[in-house]
Amino acid sequence: MSLIEIERALRALRLSGIADTLNTRVMQAQAAQQPFLETLAAMLQDELDRRQSRLVERRFKRCGLDERPTLVDFDWRFNPKLPRNACFELHALKFVTDGANALIIGKPGTGKSHVAKAVAYQATLQGYDVRYVEADTEFARYGLANTKEQAQLLKGWIDPDLLVLDDLFLARRIADVSAELLQAIVHQRYKLRRSIVITSNRVVQDWGKYLADATMATTILDRLMHRCAMLEFEGKSYRLKEAAARIAILGDSS
Ligand SMILES: Nc1ncnc2c1ncn2[C@@H]1O[C@H](COP(=O)(O)OP(=O)(O)OP(=O)(O)O)[C@@H](O)[C@H]1O
Ligand SMILES: [Mg+2]
Repeated sequence: MSLIEIERALRALRLSGIADTLNTRVMQAQAAQQPFLETLAAMLQDELDRRQSRLVERRFKRCGLDERPTLVDFDWRFNPKLPRNACFELHALKFVTDGANALIIGKPGTGKSHVAKAVAYQATLQGYDVRYVEADTEFARYGLANTKEQAQLLKGWIDPDLLVLDDLFLARRIADVSAELLQAIVHQRYKLRRSIVITSNRVVQDWGKYLADATMATTILDRLMHRCAMLEFEGKSYRLKEAAARIAILGDSS
């Protein structure tokens, strides 16, 4: 077989990781008079690397995040009272192995969603099946869906290893159907010992009001908080800081 035929065969065998680097590996082997096994090992590693990165990419696409936030780009000096260690504990993902939950509650613009997304992204990198949803938007979509679609949506929120419900109660009072959905998600995931991260700027004491049912709020919180890290985000809004910086730039240019 010629090199071109070998490459074609590799692609037919779906070994594109090897096919892509074939030329380089052949040159490398000739230049270094490399033993055959060493060359073969490098080629197999190329294929494994390619498959791994494809898998990570597929998991990321499925998880529903539209960005890849990390804790590296987070400025911990801006709000020094944030529970930094607890955030890194979440990022270490032991809570997912334990089937525990996390509630990130606090003031607007303090970075709750940023931290939750960074944890979700890290979990996709670590091989977990993750689903990130903006709670109000997705709950509204569920409310408009037919029964079959609703069952599918619910399954998509029960099956993953980690579910992130971001900005819960952003619109304060949620519809009855959304409250029942939240209850179903929490109850079922609790039974299966699967983790949930919730971010909200509404303190848990007020959840009864937003659910319009104090008993339901108790049964939801009871299960959520049974094994749960509670993170309180106090401080100034980073959004306002960014807006102030933009206004300052506009002021300078006028
Ligand atoms: N300490 C920080 N360092 C860097 N960026 C930050 C910090 N805090 C917040 N941000 C950025 O500010 C914006 C708002 O933060 P985020 O959406 O995480 O706030 P939030 O606490 O979820 O607010 P809300 O309660 O309104 O949902 C985001 O773009 C986020 O990346
Ligand atoms: Mg948020």
